Amino acid sequence: MPNIETQPISPLRLSIMPGDGIGPELVASAVAVIEAACAADGTAVDVTEEPGGAGVYRETGEALLPGALDRLRQAHGILKGPVGLPDVRKPDGTEAGLLGGLLRIGLDTFANVRPIRMLRGVDTVMKFEPGQIDYTIIRENTEGLYLSRGGGVRNYHAASDQMLITRAGTERIVKFAFEHARTRNGAPRDGVRRVTCVDKSNVLRSFALFREVFDEVAASYPDIEANHVYADAAAHALVVEPDRFDVLVMENFLGDILSDLGAGTVGGLGMCPSGNIGHGASYFEPIHGSAPTIAGRNLANPTSQILSAALLLRHSGHDRAAMRIEAAVEESFADGSIVILPAGGPEKGTESVTAAVLEHLQP
Ligand code: NAD
Ligand code: IPM
Ligand code: MN
Repeated sequence: MPNIETQPISPLRLSIMPGDGIGPELVASAVAVIEAACAADGTAVDVTEEPGGAGVYRETGEALLPGALDRLRQAHGILKGPVGLPDVRKPDGTEAGLLGGLLRIGLDTFANVRPIRMLRGVDTVMKFEPGQIDYTIIRENTEGLYLSRGGGVRNYHAASDQMLITRAGTERIVKFAFEHARTRNGAPRDGVRRVTCVDKSNVLRSFALFREVFDEVAASYPDIEANHVYADAAAHALVVEPDRFDVLVMENFLGDILSDLGAGTVGGLGMCPSGNIGHGASYFEPIHGSAPTIAGRNLANPTSQILSAALLLRHSGHDRAAMRIEAAVEESFADGSIVILPAGGPEKGTESVTAAVLEHLQP
């Protein structure tokens, strides 16, 4: 059968949100890489900027400008930098410049896809070889403990936040996780396609519902192994035997914590991209924050943002450009063009990473 390739959309309407702290320098790096990779395919890129975050909150009293969600929905792809500044806070003590609630709930991007991969040539704290750590955390993105955001109860003496798990919300994220497992090659240790349910159903009823729904959905995927690990044991296993894992699905707050733990095993936060995926709009960002103490000093590792750009391109039908970027990143690390220092920053600076990836892009 002939291999019929559809032509990627051109121009690609790209909406960027540079964000706070290291966000603008990371997004600039990723946009340069997107433009070069797309140019090789004859795809033009039409970039528009949508402000958002703590800086915007400080100026306007809101973290997004009016009409932002509608404008974002018009884009073919949304690339977001990290946002937030720890001193920009609301009277209740929480940060004011964050966008998780506004964008994840506003765009209903229910699946937060966080691949954790150890690349060749990256120095890590682990004894594992590249290829032995290659799993994806599927973090539920619209409910769980985070649904209490902006709510909860607080007075001088006490505060309470409540976790909500719904059957519908759990069904859609668990189905997403099993479908995602079908696109992968299984766990590095044994090549078995596997989805692991991570919860604390030994203690909390909310997690017991999550697990019950997981088991029901798993029954309709006989081709994929399903298992369970409690969240505390999962934190341990992700450090001592990460090669057992293929896809892990979990509640929002657990996914937040375990994905940063995973990053710590593969060379640091600056190595890890993510996609916030919905049935409508989706957006792509590093898993880390705005790292304000290193902002504007050419110290940050932009790999997380560049790999987020690759996820964006694949999601919007630009597979060849996505593959080119991933290959360029991998080769740049493998041949020593990029070296990440133990503190997490690139040896020769943020811009040297961009330059190395651009040089390694295959036409
Ligand atoms: P952080 O992820 O910004 O930083 C944690 C540590 O990792 C710091 O030492 C930082 O310097 C380092 N680091 C992070 N990214 C790096 C990179 N690309 N290269 C090199 N080093 C890197 O977490 P934090 O300090 O807890 O939070 C800072 C701000 O970011 C807060 O306002 C927080 O709320 C916000 N935040 C935003 C997002 C997001 O927008 N998606 C995610 C997490 C945190
Ligand atoms: C993340 C971040 C966000 C979260 C914050 C900044 C709202 O840590 O995307 O992992 O907790 O979800
Ligand atoms: Mn986080």
